[in-house]
Amino acid sequence: MSTDLPESAVPPPTDSSEPSSAPTRRTFIATSTAVGGVVLAGGVIGGTLLGPEEAGAAAAAPSSRVSLTVNGTRRTVTVDNRTSLLDLLREYFGLTGSKKGCNAGACGACTVLVDGHRVNACLTLAVRMEGVEVTTIEGLADGDQLHPLQ
Ligand code: FES
Repeated sequence: MSTDLPESAVPPPTDSSEPSSAPTRRTFIATSTAVGGVVLAGGVIGGTLLGPEEAGAAAAAPSSRVSLTVNGTRRTVTVDNRTSLLDLLREYFGLTGSKKGCNAGACGACTVLVDGHRVNACLTLAVRMEGVEVTTIEGLADGDQLHPLQ
């Protein structure tokens, strides 16, 4: 039994002193690094080319004025258009009875009544609450008589 490979399976010897036109691993890595550096530098430079007005406009979020009744009290406030009803109640009005659980509409910890219908306050934009009546857990009490949910 012979362990010799057939003549056709053995690659022909190459002359290592002869320059090759095919890219080597080393030239590929060097080229990739150079191109990536140029792209990254372009992005950083491009980011700093914004003028102060443009940067300020990007930072200032649009806001709206909304007027609603919360637990029987009429309130008017200017809020960022992205503010949820839950954040409006908790952060602007200090009504922390509605909880932020999942903040994705799955748990119901933020449930409030809007015009008598239950809604997930975390999924409701505050700016869409113009003129509505909101009742939170704090608003369920009848004077000194607590509601069974409280
Ligand atoms: S916080 Fe879970 S449903 Fe709103």
